[in-house]
Amino acid sequence: MKLQPRLAACAVLVSFAAVPMARAQQGFPPVPVPPGNPITFEKTQLGKALFFEEQLSSTGTVACATCHTFETGGSDRRSFAPDSVHPGFDGLFQTRDDVRGSRGVPSSNANGTYNSSTSFGLRDQVTSRRGMTVINAVYAPEAFWDGRATNDFKDPLTNTVLLPNRASLESQAVVPLLNDVEMTHMGTTWNDVVQRLAGAKPLALASSIPTTLAQFIQGKSYPELFRVAFGTTDITPSRIAMAIATYERTLISDHNRLDDFLGGNRNALTPQEQRGNQIFTSPQTRCIECHGGPLGTDHRFHYTGVTPPNEDLGRFTVTNAPQDRGAMRTPSIRNVALRAPYFHDGSAQNLEDVVAFYNRGGNVNAPNKDPRIRPLGLTVADQQALVAFLRALTDDRVLNATAPFDRPKLFTESDRVPSHYGAGTPGSNNIVPVHVAREPLSLDRSRITIGVDRGYGGSAAMLLFDAAPNTTGIPVLGIRLHLGVTPGLFMLDPIPLAGSGAGAGYGSIVLGIPNDPALRGKDVFTQWVLQDNGLQRLTSTDGVRLRIF
Ligand code: HEC
Ligand code: HEC
Repeated sequence: MKLQPRLAACAVLVSFAAVPMARAQQGFPPVPVPPGNPITFEKTQLGKALFFEEQLSSTGTVACATCHTFETGGSDRRSFAPDSVHPGFDGLFQTRDDVRGSRGVPSSNANGTYNSSTSFGLRDQVTSRRGMTVINAVYAPEAFWDGRATNDFKDPLTNTVLLPNRASLESQAVVPLLNDVEMTHMGTTWNDVVQRLAGAKPLALASSIPTTLAQFIQGKSYPELFRVAFGTTDITPSRIAMAIATYERTLISDHNRLDDFLGGNRNALTPQEQRGNQIFTSPQTRCIECHGGPLGTDHRFHYTGVTPPNEDLGRFTVTNAPQDRGAMRTPSIRNVALRAPYFHDGSAQNLEDVVAFYNRGGNVNAPNKDPRIRPLGLTVADQQALVAFLRALTDDRVLNATAPFDRPKLFTESDRVPSHYGAGTPGSNNIVPVHVAREPLSLDRSRITIGVDRGYGGSAAMLLFDAAPNTTGIPVLGIRLHLGVTPGLFMLDPIPLAGSGAGAGYGSIVLGIPNDPALRGKDVFTQWVLQDNGLQRLTSTDGVRLRIF
């Protein structure tokens, strides 16, 4: 699949057209399918439901699709947000090694209460690497940046090999479901995950479900859907993985303007993009040696000097081979323009940054750095042409999320997410306590957790509910407390805040959700009132509107 260096070089020497021809003849490879998990319509649809199922997370806020959005090329659309930053190797924010990762769940316990994590407090934790794409991921013999998800799939319960080859997607799929940064509380077992699904109404938190998927689900429970897909109602981790992987095998992006160009339509690329293609395939840049073939990747691991090898050992953690220190798997360049920021740490903001990185020969040197990463001496026009070329590799179906990339809307993308209003009152050290409300108040869930952070540790905090928001812009409860309890307002018993001192106090409360259909469509408004032992007075958070659905 890899165009040999020598071939690339002479092709360019012979004629510019020869390189595209050499690539076109390779065709797009067939999808690797493990014989033990053939693709069926039913498994694909079940896998699609599971991929968008936020109820698979303990908070109801994270599905696979939360971190893998098609419109952004199958990687995380939220990567540029301020709360998608991981502090990196040094554990400190706002330093060079910060990583643009993917937001998962807050650190939490089996009973639903939140912990304060060292880096993130009660905020969603963030992965220490930038997300990858699920599109065309089926072609990677080993999944993840370091390839630690291997192509043999072992039953997570028995550790026996279920699928001996071509099953890197199955091996990968079982990882996030138990991961206490990405999707779930600490100490989650497979039994917990199975119970979560068995009791859930499929895609109850999602909306705008594509017709085919909606018809497939049509009021069925997950056990029933597993029976349709696998013959019996048993929900097992291996079946979950096999269904998700089957769906991912349909996420194939095999069409862009370069394909049209290589197919003979000489107008499919502009002259500048054609020039970029020429530079990409030239012996000067040697880009194509790692990003060649129909998939735009050699699927191999290289240390290219993005970060010092010791900051993320990459492939080395799998092989222990010195030459693999810091080596990452080459990402495909298909749809690359949609996937900013770039590299395993998200340190390159855009394609201009990526090309500048290559032109200067990388950021860091180390003995095992690939010799092809060295100063290239590209002119400004060359660099612009390369960027233009990389922008031409977008598949419209991915960009527009049309079949096979059509998808439901997630709870976190809807107007059902809790919304903040008003402002809190500052406590000691002028720190305003933070209202932590992110979970769906869905009648299909049994409980919801609401937290408070940055209060005065050791003091008490009390959650108040009201049926109407405060319209004055002043914290609701400051007023209401003085006026006395009004109809609709109620308060929960105070909880002691963990932590000690100003700004270090945190706590959370787990509330049962009554399964009362009369509540659907109603809003409730919450606010925390806190005792501040430093100031010896009450403070409060802002208000939050929770929509019941
Ligand atoms: C919290 C965000 C998050 C969630 C949730 C998540 N992923 Fe990922 N995904 C990532 C990150 C980050 C990586 C890269 C991690 C690494 O290499 O260490 C990744 C890597 C992958 C890969 C590897 C792609 C490749 O080319 O090797 C696949 C496939 C994938 N995820 C599928 C899934 C599936 C299926 C689920 C749900 C069961 C899921 N992800 C849930 C963030 C997430
Ligand atoms: C030695 C193999 C190799 C060569 C040569 C190479 N790349 Fe890469 N490329 C990689 C690897 C490995 C990564 C991921 C590095 C990381 O994240 O640490 C990467 C990342 C990228 C990315 C970012 C993709 C993403 O999703 O983050 C782009 C774009 C890219 N390369 C384009 C190019 C261009 C353009 C050239 C030529 C100027 C080139 N590459 C040369 C191996 C290579």
